[in-house]
Amino acid sequence: MPGEAAPRAWWQEAVVYQIYPRSFRDSDGDGIGDLDGITGKLDHIAALGADVIWLCPVYPSPNVDNGYDVADYRGIAPEFGTMADFERLLREMDRRGLRLIMDLVFNHSSDQHPWFRSARASKDSPWRDYYIWRGSAGSGPPNDWRAVFGGGAWTWNEPTGDWYFHIFAPEQPDLNWENPALRRELWDIMRFWAGKGVAGFRLDVASFFSKKPFEAPQTGGIFPFYANGPRVHDYLREMRREVLDPLGLVTVGEAPGVTADEAPLYVDPARGELDMIFHFDHAGIDRTPEDFWTPAPWRLAGLKDVLTRWDRALAGRGWNSLYLGNHDLPRLLSRFGDTGVHRAAAAKLFATLLLTLRGTPYIYQGDEIGMINTPFPSVADLRDVVAANGWQSARAAGRAEADFLAEHLLVARDHARTPMQWDASPHGGFTDGAPWIMANPDFAVTNVAAATADPDSVLHHYRRLIALRKATPALVHGDYVPIEAGHPDIFAYVRLLDDVLLLVVLNVSAAAVPIGDLGRDGVPLIGSHDGHGPVMRPFEARVLRMAEEPGEYASPACSMGEVDPAYMGFSD
Ligand code: GLC
Repeated sequence: MPGEAAPRAWWQEAVVYQIYPRSFRDSDGDGIGDLDGITGKLDHIAALGADVIWLCPVYPSPNVDNGYDVADYRGIAPEFGTMADFERLLREMDRRGLRLIMDLVFNHSSDQHPWFRSARASKDSPWRDYYIWRGSAGSGPPNDWRAVFGGGAWTWNEPTGDWYFHIFAPEQPDLNWENPALRRELWDIMRFWAGKGVAGFRLDVASFFSKKPFEAPQTGGIFPFYANGPRVHDYLREMRREVLDPLGLVTVGEAPGVTADEAPLYVDPARGELDMIFHFDHAGIDRTPEDFWTPAPWRLAGLKDVLTRWDRALAGRGWNSLYLGNHDLPRLLSRFGDTGVHRAAAAKLFATLLLTLRGTPYIYQGDEIGMINTPFPSVADLRDVVAANGWQSARAAGRAEADFLAEHLLVARDHARTPMQWDASPHGGFTDGAPWIMANPDFAVTNVAAATADPDSVLHHYRRLIALRKATPALVHGDYVPIEAGHPDIFAYVRLLDDVLLLVVLNVSAAAVPIGDLGRDGVPLIGSHDGHGPVMRPFEARVLRMAEEPGEYASPACSMGEVDPAYMGFSD
């Protein structure tokens, strides 16, 4: 029955840790993180309390988009190691009770993939129909659609005299999912990795697999235009039937352009598609609606609204995934928090938010020690294709480098890709060589070694929060009910399960904020500061167990946010 709550699954109770392998730990001194580097640091992840690692792509790739342009879906990139290294990583993870989610980039391949090299060379290639071709000699691009990384979405192919389609860079040609032979090939790739023992997959831009007719002119933002093509749900159901269900794999689909209302179409268990999706509503909260790479101011009210809307849309209809940072976003503290005197408090606050909402939390590497954005001194220090393309068009338009840099650094993906900061040695202990991207000079103070030694550190706070979540089913499965939704600085909500009522209060501001009696009678379970008086300190976070019986409030009405604020003792 659509809408029926599914039985609880292991991955709902799991905490996921995301690794960007290029930047995690380099074991052989070539300046690039690798699989042995990850294996050597598994104890850090196990000690954090995470259960699952999501590994960004490790396949052979020309690295136009750092591995999101795959040249061999069944291989390991030499700079990351060998298949034997991958298998050892899996074994060492298994010994620690950790499971692996692989990143699959199936919307597009690299232009260096043998399929595309053959397809672009001749119209008679057996792989010709694995890609999307339009037009003929003398014709212009088939339409005006734009690529996410800048420029048009069609590139001319001289040898065959037509255009191929790519939502991202020209070196990332889109695969033609209409072709059943292509789909069978993809299912086989999934079976290959499942055979190695992975627990599941993160599907890159899963909402883009099916293309809309190449007709309408493109207006507004790009993502809605490419998302939700007419056959996407057929494809996902086929994937589930052919691979996911028979092999018991978990999947989370990246889903730009999917609204909260549309989300159940992807994750309602009764529909048999994906287990979770990553939405973009808060990823884009500090961007203009028209262009993801143009910064715009954000407000707490917007963030509260997005998180609440998504919880409601999925309550009883699917399972949410929670993230505040990833490899495509600037550091969360620099976006939403504080990088000055309140930095540690803000890091603890956002950790509390991530780990007390309903859904499966995904922690991005480095967030557990409170890493922040890097003051890249020049465009030459940036590595991302988005930065390179952005600078190329800015320069062509006559903009000064400093001007472009100041704006781009508000959205730059490279902030998330600087080396993981392990200790205070050169490059933060990431490499003995020269890192492929500069380390944030902040590694001297913010690093895993220092954080481990300080019992009051952000890292220990993450560990405590994860342990609390594991011991508290209400934090995983409980209803989420926002309270005082209109408050400009306070983000507060309750989590309710059976006779357990928890109150989370976050002061998302650098000011002291009075909260009256809110939570006065509660028992503090965890907080960023000691005590819980009537004034919240800057970026203070509190989680309290309330003595009251939830009683009538533990009804479906709670999911609609209809708790009487007076019940919680809130007064302005
Ligand atoms: C996803 C990935 C991003 C990549 C893009 C194209 O958004 O997260 O890193 O650039 O897809 O593959």
